[in-house]
Amino acid sequence: MKGVILHGGTGTRLRPLTYSDVKQLLTIAGKPTSEYGLEQMRQIGIKDLSIVIGAVGGEEVKKYYGNGDKWECKIQYVYQEKPLGIANAISLCRDITGPDDFLVYLGDNVIQDSLGDAYEKFQSKKYDAFLILVPVKDPSKYGVAEIGNDLVTGLKEKPRDPTSNLAVTGIYFLRETVYDYIDKLKPSARGEYEIMEALQAMIEDGKKIGYKTVGGWFKDTGTVEDFIECNMLVLESIKGNSSSDRTNVKGRVNFGKDVIIDQETKVLGPCYIGSNVQIKNSFIGPYTSIGDGCIIQGIEIENSIIMENCKIDFEDGRIIYESIIGPKCNIKSGNSKTRRTKLVLGRDSKVEL
Ligand code: TTP
Repeated sequence: MKGVILHGGTGTRLRPLTYSDVKQLLTIAGKPTSEYGLEQMRQIGIKDLSIVIGAVGGEEVKKYYGNGDKWECKIQYVYQEKPLGIANAISLCRDITGPDDFLVYLGDNVIQDSLGDAYEKFQSKKYDAFLILVPVKDPSKYGVAEIGNDLVTGLKEKPRDPTSNLAVTGIYFLRETVYDYIDKLKPSARGEYEIMEALQAMIEDGKKIGYKTVGGWFKDTGTVEDFIECNMLVLESIKGNSSSDRTNVKGRVNFGKDVIIDQETKVLGPCYIGSNVQIKNSFIGPYTSIGDGCIIQGIEIENSIIMENCKIDFEDGRIIYESIIGPKCNIKSGNSKTRRTKLVLGRDSKVEL
């Protein structure tokens, strides 16, 4: 089986972060969201991968994943000129996937469960496609699957009166047949070629679409709230590697190499602290990810993501919560009287608070 990971799209809902960075390379616990997907693929033995890149940030994606050696797989890149939809992005991989089955993964989707079980079911050859479904509270916001007799019997995009609570995740096991249905698509009202429409046409044509409902958590990280929640869920399952001589560290914390924390700082897990991080006079609270190379002084922070190489320096202390701070931001004391701050900052932002 081959793999396809999508890195196109515009990521408008994650602006300003996505003005400067590719959405799928934004990090949670020091790792791009799409790398969680790539690891899932590697876990089920997929070695031959294609990454679809868009007009913005494609070079950064290539630089990060290279030829795949680091993950012991082969990666080739496919260019999607315009964000014309998921089905359009998939169709560009036709020559590469050829007659093989393939797994498509949206690079901003993160799932806890292994895909081994779904992979094996799809390999049984009983299905023309296989979907991963997730129960949700508000199905009318999602693409929803109707099911019966172990098959998906219908797919509806954001239905007003949903007949099931099962949303379709961005993880699709497909085979060559799907391309015939993508070819027949017309752009939808939002101007995109919709994979849901191609799958619905397959169902109407009597093709068999299997499914598995996720047991653990699943997150589409497309919005600020969902990104922060995904960070929380990822950190919830870390094991922690703090040595016992770090007496000011409590709970599960994953440390990178060469982290320096002074005695005035307290860290309460679950947290991730990357390599070469220096922290002084701070409280690093639960559900916080701090990227490599950050230098931090005088903050209380929780439920937030600080990406790599940020510099945060408050002489008079500040509380930062539910925030996403993009790479290389510089935040320092200004005249603000507000002690509690919630921030969403794109790369290289400079802020005085
Ligand atoms: P979306 O999140 O639906 O779209 P988007 O990335 O443009 O974001 P927004 O709605 O905030 O503007 O895309 C889902 C996934 O599919 C995401 O990983 C990007 C990928 N994608 C492509 O690769 N090509 C495309 O043409 C589109 C629309 C999405």
